[in-house]
Amino acid sequence: MNYHIVTYGCQMNVHESEKIAGILREKGYDKETSAEEADVIVFNTCCIRENAENHAFGNIGALKKLKKQKKDLIVAVGGCMAQEAGKAELLRKKFPFIDVVFGTHNLSSLGELIDRKRRSKKAAVEILGERGETEDGVAPVRTSYPNAWVNIMYGCNNFCSYCIVPYVRGRERSRRAEDVLAEVRSLVREGYREITLLGQNVNSYNSDGNGGMSFPELLEAAASVEGRFRLRFMTSHPKDFTEEAALVMKRNEKICPQLHLPAQSGSDRILSLMNRRYTREKYLSEIAFLRRHIPDCEVTTDLIVGFPTETEEDFQETLSLVKEADFSSAFTFVYSPRTGTKAAAMDGQIEESVQKERIMRLVELVNAQTRAHSARCVGKTVEILVEDYDEKRGMYLGRDRHGRMGYFASDRNRVGEFVALRVTKANGVSLYGEPEEIRREENGTIADDATLPGNQGEV
Ligand code: SAH
Ligand code: SF4
Ligand code: F3S
Repeated sequence: MNYHIVTYGCQMNVHESEKIAGILREKGYDKETSAEEADVIVFNTCCIRENAENHAFGNIGALKKLKKQKKDLIVAVGGCMAQEAGKAELLRKKFPFIDVVFGTHNLSSLGELIDRKRRSKKAAVEILGERGETEDGVAPVRTSYPNAWVNIMYGCNNFCSYCIVPYVRGRERSRRAEDVLAEVRSLVREGYREITLLGQNVNSYNSDGNGGMSFPELLEAAASVEGRFRLRFMTSHPKDFTEEAALVMKRNEKICPQLHLPAQSGSDRILSLMNRRYTREKYLSEIAFLRRHIPDCEVTTDLIVGFPTETEEDFQETLSLVKEADFSSAFTFVYSPRTGTKAAAMDGQIEESVQKERIMRLVELVNAQTRAHSARCVGKTVEILVEDYDEKRGMYLGRDRHGRMGYFASDRNRVGEFVALRVTKANGVSLYGEPEEIRREENGTIADDATLPGNQGEV
């Protein structure tokens, strides 16, 4: 039987869809296909901003016809939007053809819910309150070789005033360090070459005591796993990012010199209203120690414009932060009020026309900075981990250690290899170049790329 999964939202959700695929395979859905050919279609939704929800609504609605033609097709909706208060009912009302609804606290019961639906005509809907559980028992079907994601924690305790995540994901639950490390070891053994540790706020790992060690300790232990691989982690919260973590990054070559550190705003007044619990000065001091220890470290960020009461002066402070922090890129968002959050009830909501005008100015600045950072790579050699083949460009692609996409032509499949790319051209966020294949004098085979800068000594 065939399955099809549609994923919205963050990397957590992308990885959770791999777990959903694992559950479906156990139920006998053994082949991933297009929606048209599928026997079950699962929507793994996001509710971080209104447009994420609208996107899902549109795509679910579009299934009405297919569902009429294929009576046995099962349509399931899960993820953050399904978990949101009142949304499961709304979904069923808007789209009566939905067969299964599940939330973020009962991902692992998806299989049972599908069985329940197969046995009866009635839709199987189950949204549970927080159970404090993790999905440790679910084996994912990984779809991103040579990259792999590993949850180190679930949930979020921070209640940033604009954010819905703590409401739909529950409180922080850390996985035991030994389980995380065992997963990393087995992934490296299986040949995965880049591992990203995942959490909404990785720096507060072990806040519940369940991890058994701090985040810097876990990071160092993961980086000490034998084998040739790269390590990344996300997301870091500036209120908890420490110099200790930066020192671990510096000491361990496997950890990529790249940090995603969402700033959200450059204005202290707005940061305080956002309940972010750091100041612009603290944020910049973190970037300063990071760059002192790792001079080539690239910093990326998330920024929100048009938060309630944001003035032109506040916005100017965000623009100046972009320059001062020298971000190499940024995800930029227009503030979207989320029902139930503190900010949605604040006075001083900003008009859409002002928000739009501000985001355009911000995007222009960020793009210019991204181009400048990429342009500096031209003429250099960067290490690319090849991820995929881009049919449109007719080129292989992968990321360098700083997280930039690099493209090159090759007449053989290079996916999963580390390639030293001599950068000849930079175009926005992407680099283009030629693999530098130094041939070994003695036997004419391709040189061991462990001799290139930025690589670990072990293969
Ligand atoms: N846990 C991460 C981010 C999770 S959500 C962190 O704390 O940084 C990813 C990004 O979405 C956030 O960093 C924020 O920039 C943005 N975001 C969250 N809620 C939003 C909202 N209501 N409107 C606009 N952007 C939002
Ligand atoms: Fe949302 Fe803040 Fe938690 Fe990130 S840290 S998920 S922005 S509440
Ligand atoms: Fe991620 Fe969206 Fe949920 S950003 S945690 S999928 S609300």
